[in-house]
Amino acid sequence: MAHIAIAVEDINKAKDFFELISGNQASDPHFVESQKVNTSFVSLGETNFELLEPVGDDTPISNFLSNRGGGIHHICVETENFDELVTTIRSSGVRTLGEPFIGAKGRRVIFFHPKDTYNVLVELEEREE
Ligand code: CO
Repeated sequence: MAHIAIAVEDINKAKDFFELISGNQASDPHFVESQKVNTSFVSLGETNFELLEPVGDDTPISNFLSNRGGGIHHICVETENFDELVTTIRSSGVRTLGEPFIGAKGRRVIFFHPKDTYNVLVELEEREE
């Protein structure tokens, strides 16, 4: 699912605003153990907002909130040709942050190094055909 991910202190409070501005209902917050975050999705036109609330201290999102005060954390692009595209992007010289893993939607995802992607953290997610 393509999305714009936003790190927030309080997911229930943030949901209210993003529901108002999008005119859509956000999904109930869902805990993702591997990332130590609660997530909620709200659709917006052809994309979605992914709200990310950290659970616990010293997690990627809690550190992002401490250092940057929240805001846009990453954008996600989806593809049906996941392995092929990861190989192509890597061979163009863009580094990845580790290997693919199972993301919030139960699909494979990988992140690219923001220094190689114009200072925007980009997530690539596999879409089922
Ligand atoms: Co995401």
